[in-house]
Amino acid sequence: MKILNFGSLNLDYVYTVDHMAAAGETLASEGLQVFCGGKGLNQSIALAKAGIGVYHAGLIGKDGENLLQACRDAGVHTAYIEEAVEKTGHAIIQVDHSGQNCILLYGGANRNITKEFVDRVLADFAEGDLLLLQNEISQLDFIIDRAYEKGMEIILNPSPYDENIGRCDLSKVSLFLLNEIEGNQMTGETDPDRILDRLQEMYPGAEAVLTLGSGGSVYQDGKQRIRQGIFPVQVADTTAAGDTFTGYFLASRMEGRSAEECLRRASRAAAIAVSRAGAAQSIPEREEVDAFTISEEASEYCFTRPNQSRE
Ligand code: RIB
Repeated sequence: MKILNFGSLNLDYVYTVDHMAAAGETLASEGLQVFCGGKGLNQSIALAKAGIGVYHAGLIGKDGENLLQACRDAGVHTAYIEEAVEKTGHAIIQVDHSGQNCILLYGGANRNITKEFVDRVLADFAEGDLLLLQNEISQLDFIIDRAYEKGMEIILNPSPYDENIGRCDLSKVSLFLLNEIEGNQMTGETDPDRILDRLQEMYPGAEAVLTLGSGGSVYQDGKQRIRQGIFPVQVADTTAAGDTFTGYFLASRMEGRSAEECLRRASRAAAIAVSRAGAAQSIPEREEVDAFTISEEASEYCFTRPNQSRE
């Protein structure tokens, strides 16, 4: 069984700010750092760091060599990362002193995915292989349809949620990984349990993992709902915490671990990621994740705290 992640690769321009710029405001930033990012790239790097041989498919421009190198350095298979005429996608990210962020995306090469490219990549994958997707590339609906025809198992992180998701046949998805904002956008519900109830009604055959920021995470399949608290740390930057969670959850699932273990390991990995600056570079190695310990009591306590959105 192979795993393919068809997803974005971005250059992240991260500006440290006192507060997020408001409409009409001109705000001087306190510093700029450029990181490798993109939800697709981050999730591939998380899978690779967790020990999974993931294939990444996507497009960069001539200015995207660093992104290709970051994937190679992490052990991601890069044969399906190609160069487009368009510039590499980028993100303008404000990070405030509490580590919260605000992201503006420019799709660039990520929006140049063609049906021909999709068919060429998918030709090397078969029934039973896994396909991971986010919503930062073009042709998402086509990729889902083609992969489903081949019998691939489709895993969707519907992030960021927009009208492109509405064009997809989501009944073909077997696992959703989403945060409470995306959960609200998909279902119209705000209460986490109601979001999960509604997802179950809408897609009865699918599993779901709902992340709740400082409120932890919840897994559900048709039979059970399992909850996990966060592991509290000093927050430096929440960027890519959700991507780290997704990569580690999937990697643990591919290793055949129980849903409880998958949630717990993914939560540990995300905790380490939020304690560090940047996107891809904040993602921990599996040895760090497996060595990370914090009291179960603290984890349970945090589950009861009010929700706080996590990127
Ligand atoms: O999830 C974090 C990512 O979202 C950033 O790396 C940025 O590129 C955007 O895609």
